Amino acid sequence: MTKTNRIVLDVLNGAHAETPPIWIMRQAGRYLPEYRETRKTAGSFLDLCYNPELATEVTLQPIRRFGFDASILFSDILTVPHALGRDLRFEEGRGPIMTPIKPDEIDSLSDIADFHDRLAPVYETVRRLRSRLPRETTLLGFCGAPWTVATYMIAGHGTADQAPARLFLYRHPELMDTLLTGLAERSAQYLARQIEAGADAVQIFDSWSGVLDEASFERCCIRPVRLIVDRLSERFPDVPIIGFPKGAGSAYDSYRQETGVDALGLDWSVPLSQAKRLQKDSLVQGNLDPLRLVAGGNALDEGIDSILTALADGPFIFNLGHGITPQTPIDHVQRMIDRVRSWKGA
Ligand code: CP3
Repeated sequence: MTKTNRIVLDVLNGAHAETPPIWIMRQAGRYLPEYRETRKTAGSFLDLCYNPELATEVTLQPIRRFGFDASILFSDILTVPHALGRDLRFEEGRGPIMTPIKPDEIDSLSDIADFHDRLAPVYETVRRLRSRLPRETTLLGFCGAPWTVATYMIAGHGTADQAPARLFLYRHPELMDTLLTGLAERSAQYLARQIEAGADAVQIFDSWSGVLDEASFERCCIRPVRLIVDRLSERFPDVPIIGFPKGAGSAYDSYRQETGVDALGLDWSVPLSQAKRLQKDSLVQGNLDPLRLVAGGNALDEGIDSILTALADGPFIFNLGHGITPQTPIDHVQRMIDRVRSWKGA
């Protein structure tokens, strides 16, 4: 292993860290006043995602303010279906809105020729980030896992339980396989371009893997992510891949081996005893409940301490168990970082 002195990258590659490195999901976002300012000048959320100068700026904001150990490209998981020609907009308070894809539209997705041209601004953002980030900051690229992306393409918006996508799966299993395999191939190419542009490691967000039964989890979450990992490992064997199958519960136990990801992002419902077990086989990342960070005080301190007591000795990256919420007070974020960085062992 070659040490890069990028601590997140080094621990992903097996180095030991005295103090756990830290970054947080959605670290560029609405809890930051400077983000809200830039967001106003950008126009829509998607305009911001496709504007390399402004997307670079908002990615750098949490690094400047807090000095996180990793920076995650500012974009969205739904740029992939957008670049495949699906319409997409973000509505205040409602989140993403798309026209639900119909079964007879799935085959034609593979015909889209200008996929990478449409994503060129994202690749340009990655290049600018690598040249402007501090040398020691790890740059993470990302994509949505095919299942999670498919749930939005099928429902056309967020839902509580992804019933439309689950029904689609049971009614049209072959078409679902076609959709997921197509998304996996495109996502692998998308991540490959991010890596070529300068990403040190990548994370695959499967935010909705928790709504599936056992057989469907295997079919819709494991298989497509395995395909992405296989494609990337052929070309970039040294670039670590973090999988985040939110809500996977006991399925976390076999996820790493079955998908081939290098590290596991844990949501906050994963018990620390299970996390410790998982850590024997791979690096784990997580898993503070984002609402402890909103509440602050003892709820925050106790949450941090129990995670560090259980996990800080092993291969570990401190993070939240899901994205930071807009109502989070900024001083709580600073308090969390200080507490993690001053950790001296249990
Ligand atoms: O982590 C980061 O800082 C990088 C940026 C990032 C965003 N979205 C920015 C964003 C990342 C990694 C994502 C991933 C993403 N996007 C996921 C997977 C992770 C998760 O949170 O479960 C999902 C499911 C999406 C789709 C999506 N994008 C939804 C459902 C929403 C609406 C919810 C919300 O918070 O408003 C978004 C919008 C979004 N993506 C925002 C940001 C900063 C807020 C939009 C705004 O600023 O107006």
